[in-house]
Amino acid sequence: MDKKLCDLNDIRDNGSAGFVIDTHDGRCGLMVVRKGREVFSYLNSCPHIGTPLEIQPDRFLDQSGQHILCSTHGALFQVEDGLCVAGPCVDEKLTPVAIDIRDNGVYVNEQELPTLWPPRAAPPKLED
Ligand code: FES
Repeated sequence: MDKKLCDLNDIRDNGSAGFVIDTHDGRCGLMVVRKGREVFSYLNSCPHIGTPLEIQPDRFLDQSGQHILCSTHGALFQVEDGLCVAGPCVDEKLTPVAIDIRDNGVYVNEQELPTLWPPRAAPPKLED
């Protein structure tokens, strides 16, 4: 079933955003980069050692805005195909996520997302 991530206009042009989606046994992180009416999306997992990419919430791009940056060891990835062009995992790729844009909304098929992380921790129980 398609899940709406956000409105297209919630992501500024040449900007990025991150999302965490609950899966059947945990959570999946994904990131999107907007270029005009196009959106490129990948799992939020670096092919080097699998850490999340962003340096701050929703900040996935390097200072030039031209590449996706892994904040752990500085790998740079092409926005259009996720290919690593600098850093410790050159020639490896981010894992693409199919995104659908319709009626100005950005949608993902949540059934196709893998589990990357364990489920959200339950909130602590309050003692009386
Ligand atoms: S974890 Fe991304 S470059 Fe090392």
